[in-house]
Amino acid sequence: MTRLWIIGAGGFGAEVLGTLRSTWRPGGDGAVELAFAVDDPDADSFLGVPVHPLGDVAAGDSFVIAIGAGAVRRRLHQTLTARGALPFELTAPTAVIGHQVFTGEGLLLSDFTMLTGDLRVGAQFQCNIYSYVAHNCVIGDYVTFAPRVCCNGNVHIDDDAYIGTGAVLRQGTAEKPLRIGKGATVGMGAVVTKDVPEGAVVVGNPARPLERPSGS
Ligand SMILES: CC(C)(COP(=O)(O)OP(=O)(O)OC[C@H]1O[C@@H](n2cnc3c(N)ncnc32)[C@H](O)[C@@H]1OP(=O)(O)O)[C@@H](O)C(=O)NCCC(=O)NCCS
Repeated sequence: MTRLWIIGAGGFGAEVLGTLRSTWRPGGDGAVELAFAVDDPDADSFLGVPVHPLGDVAAGDSFVIAIGAGAVRRRLHQTLTARGALPFELTAPTAVIGHQVFTGEGLLLSDFTMLTGDLRVGAQFQCNIYSYVAHNCVIGDYVTFAPRVCCNGNVHIDDDAYIGTGAVLRQGTAEKPLRIGKGATVGMGAVVTKDVPEGAVVVGNPARPLERPSGS
């Protein structure tokens, strides 16, 4: 029997479990067993599904990473594929993928998401409920969309960026795409009208760098 692992047994792990169960019934045909794997299990089951240490994920098993932090997904993806495990593409039943959409391995599309058409997303792109990516966007590796992100046309997002719930990214043009830099964070509810530099954290409408009290 092959195993399909959900990596991460937190809130998003529970949601991924629900999505998998609405897609098919693990074990129904006796071929696939579903289980969680985490770094350090503190219980042997979660929501009635067994929890194992990460070391139990073996060559030939499939895995979905249910963790929002891109850097953590990067580490897990590299560790597990090096050991011969296979990234599983999870596309929820209500997700829509249009024409000329190129996706990297380990894609995770939650319910009511859309990749409209003529666009590219990288490895381990995580697109949470109600988010969309529009035409001519280029999304890097290990990018995370929280729920209800509106990513309009001609936006380029570099690796490891995190886009918070309800953020709206203004459309760019073919000549001048809107750019979100590597590892940048767009806060929940932000309306992004200008490029965001690498590593920056921006919030608000229009989005500006997050100001922190000096010394913090
Ligand atoms: C932007 C963000 C990353 C900042 O997190 P943080 O560094 O922990 O910041 P803090 O919570 O310490 O907040 C610092 C200040 O920014 C404000 N702030 C935080 N997030 C903000 C946002 N999205 N928009 C406007 N202001 C925000 C806080 O109110 C606080 O203001 P204060 O100094 O006047 O009290 C975070 O708040 C955020 O938006 N994360 C995305 C959450 C999300 O979408 N989750 C989805 C889960 S599936």
